[in-house]
Amino acid sequence: MRTHYCGEITSLNIEEDVELCGWVHRRRDHGGVIFVELRDRTGRVQVVVDPENLEQFNKAESVRNEYVLRVKGDVRARPKGTENFDMPTGKVEVYGNDIEILNSSDPLPFQLEDSDTSEPVRLRHRYLDLRTDRMQANLRLRHNLFSQIRKFLELKDFTDIETPILTQSTPEGARDYLVPSRVYPGSFFALPQSPQIFKQLLMVSGLERYYQIARCFRDEDLRADRQPEFTQLDVEMSFVNEEDVMALSEDMVRSVFKSVLDTDLPSPFPRLSYRDAISRYGSDRPDLRIDMELVEISDLMQNVEFKVFSEPANADGSRVVALRVPQASNLTRQQIDEYTSYVSQYGARGLAYIKVNNMDSLPKGLQSPILKFLNNDSINKLIERTGVENGDLIFFGADKETIVNDSMGALRVRLGQDLQRVEEAWKPLWILDFPLMAFDTVTSSWHSEHHPFTAPMDDDVQFLKQSPDLVRARAYDMVLNGSEIGGGSIRIHRSELQKKIFEVLGISDEKAREKFGFLLDALSFGAPPHGGIAFGLDRLASIMCKENSIREVIAFPKTQKSACLMTEAPSAIDKEQLNELGISIQSD
Ligand code: AMO
Ligand code: AMP
Repeated sequence: MRTHYCGEITSLNIEEDVELCGWVHRRRDHGGVIFVELRDRTGRVQVVVDPENLEQFNKAESVRNEYVLRVKGDVRARPKGTENFDMPTGKVEVYGNDIEILNSSDPLPFQLEDSDTSEPVRLRHRYLDLRTDRMQANLRLRHNLFSQIRKFLELKDFTDIETPILTQSTPEGARDYLVPSRVYPGSFFALPQSPQIFKQLLMVSGLERYYQIARCFRDEDLRADRQPEFTQLDVEMSFVNEEDVMALSEDMVRSVFKSVLDTDLPSPFPRLSYRDAISRYGSDRPDLRIDMELVEISDLMQNVEFKVFSEPANADGSRVVALRVPQASNLTRQQIDEYTSYVSQYGARGLAYIKVNNMDSLPKGLQSPILKFLNNDSINKLIERTGVENGDLIFFGADKETIVNDSMGALRVRLGQDLQRVEEAWKPLWILDFPLMAFDTVTSSWHSEHHPFTAPMDDDVQFLKQSPDLVRARAYDMVLNGSEIGGGSIRIHRSELQKKIFEVLGISDEKAREKFGFLLDALSFGAPPHGGIAFGLDRLASIMCKENSIREVIAFPKTQKSACLMTEAPSAIDKEQLNELGISIQSD
């Protein structure tokens, strides 16, 4: 129906006859002449309709925003002074001599280019929201990312293999989405939280190099970077160790950043142990674009009068940290109160601070309500260790480790953003040496930090029975600009070790057979050493698009409450369907 795309018409086309199709982005009446900005997927071009051509003029006059048109016309240079240099097609216009209205449009519920439109309105009319330049660019970047990933992996001889969506539970730490079976009333399929078990089975089958761009389903509390269904790049390889998987992953991420964004990422990516990450950033996904760090000062605060500091400084499982904030001594009382209430969301009971006004006369040059409780020796050592300068401010966190890490880690990021200390850069890194398991005080049992198929480090297997907390995992996470974009591990490939891990996790032999019997069997038939990784592609795409939420790179996402505002899913189903499934709904 067309000879050209709107966004591609340039001065090179002047005097050519063209036929265009698209939507009316805007229509303006200018002293008898009508200007229609016509939009298609490539961009926009100005169509001019002259009143001398009365029939066409009347049609042009009747069109409204978002009408669908086919326009035949010839390309002319815009008269001097009327060019629009912000528009790629701004030097030309199409003189419309035949206008066909392919469809009309009701007035839209929101203006496409209005960046203040609320998210619920955008999501309810997502098919319109996707007409915006922003969403079109995001979806195209996402496509480009996926396509570059496929190219990269195919050149490296990976085979793309699909795994079931209707399956058994795959433990990744979230709740399952369940699908009732009509054929087996009372029985349910689970949607996969990841293809983890299947990709391991494919290694047992001798496929050696698998990948899949796979949809995963997790019923968990949603945040800006989580969706109930999301897309992973899932990879598994045989006869590899950590270094092999990490090298391939780095090469792939570097290669797609180069081809999609023309950006060079560092080589190799820096590495940080889980312990160091938590100790220095309070987080296992540190944003290295922010140059502030938590400084351990427990040892300096053991003998001070200030109980808020001395108690955690002396207690096991607690810590005291300082966060130096450069040039922030001008924060007001009110701002500090706001940060105090911010950290209280993470359980912090307060947010002590010291302002550094004049380093030449200590301690007089310091300003803080807690100074009187600290002795000169600890103050001097604190000043030295934090490396503060005139005009800086120090915040303190003192409590149980988890509270200090969560609250001060979050404060570090918040301050980085508020004080414009987030460097304009790409900062990838690996986090290594994760603990294999953590103790859950609520259930009084050990649970896997990653998933139960992750191999322990050889040197640490000896601690499995007595002190599972000392066992490190052969796992690795890739972090980019403060977001965990991928994670994986070397797997257990011997069934005895897998059984032992289930035992430590409190999964009885019987239960292990019932849930994972097929995996244990498979491991006993010559399973090769293997390992892999999975990337959160929605997260990666949102970071590459510089969006704050993964919803901005998913065509039809769910809300924070796991619902689709457009289709109104999930929805009630009728009685007949329930009967067929042998299901009755409890009314309270
Ligand atoms: P993991 O659970 O770490 O590992 O998931 C891998 C990556 O998927 C992304 N991700 C999510 N993205 C959006 N919404 C969610 N709800 C969500 N949950 C996770 C993250 C994460 O890094 N089978 C293992 C991988 C392996 O061991 O190979 C797994 O699924 O970016
Ligand atoms: P208080 O003695 O409770 O008045 O606290 C004195 C200062 O210490 C105030 O600035 C509090 O915000 C701060 N503070 C109290 N508890 C903590 C804590 N657990 N960690 C850091 N600062 C705290």
